[in-house]
Amino acid sequence: MSATEQRTREVPADGRTAARTRGLSKTYGSGETAVTALDSVDVDIREGRFTAVMGPSGSGKSTLMYCLAGLDTVTDGRVWIDDREITGLGDAELTRLRRDEIGFVFQSFNLLPTLTARENITLPMDIGGREPDPEWLDTVIDTLRLRDRLEHRPTQLSGGQQQRVACARALASRPKLVFADEPTGNLDSRSGLELLGFLRRAVDELGQTVVMVTHDPGAAAHADLVLYLADGRIVDEMPDPTAEAVLERMKRFDPARQY
Ligand SMILES: Nc1ncnc2c1ncn2[C@@H]1O[C@H](COP(=O)(O)OP(=O)(O)O)[C@@H](O)[C@H]1O
Ligand SMILES: [Mg+2]
Repeated sequence: MSATEQRTREVPADGRTAARTRGLSKTYGSGETAVTALDSVDVDIREGRFTAVMGPSGSGKSTLMYCLAGLDTVTDGRVWIDDREITGLGDAELTRLRRDEIGFVFQSFNLLPTLTARENITLPMDIGGREPDPEWLDTVIDTLRLRDRLEHRPTQLSGGQQQRVACARALASRPKLVFADEPTGNLDSRSGLELLGFLRRAVDELGQTVVMVTHDPGAAAHADLVLYLADGRIVDEMPDPTAEAVLERMKRFDPARQY
């Protein structure tokens, strides 16, 4: 398939879809300054899988994630989480959906400095007036190896530990979907590898669905599937990626560029 060709895919017969889009377009601004960030994207995010989204800077990766998560409005097309269409939902319903069904991990850890790790982890649920399932919370805390860090504040934690707290916060409510936008971007390589291992375990051992935006071929290699975006379109996908294969594919976008 050529890099300029747009893929149109049917809903896969095997496996459930945790999220999907059809004809998803997003334009920022209007008139001469309008920017098409997404151009009629059809994507299926498989449940219980780890999907990486790659592509050159400005190709629409973050926009796709925000539209899939109901964090941004779409210009055209439709988005479903599970079997539920979220395009057209009102603000209150979207807020509830984001709070209860979606977890986020960002490049900057976004922890509240005055709260302990434990308080940060349960904050979204506390705000929503929901009790964490204690067994699930224990599993998440142990999987992310945070048991002996729970009473620490963010400044008392390393970057890697802070990002693990942010991951635990994203997983605490056992959301249908976890989105991570460049989650290893602010971590040293060892902490980054560790975090990727935890995201992998969240999928393999806890049955979560993870969608991760990254520009790092080594990070993408932890996923089950890599989707490639270019100019707001999905132009390729790669199952069972290796870092070498991802790097080779990325070079085809712009051979002069270093990734
Ligand atoms: N809030 C915004 N206002 C205007 N343009 C935006 C906004 N957010 C993103 N864009 C533009 O949309 C395109 C896609 O951006 P983005 O999704 O952030 O790409 P990526 O995450 O792949 O780097 C870029 O051209 C970017 O400049
Ligand atoms: Mg981005």
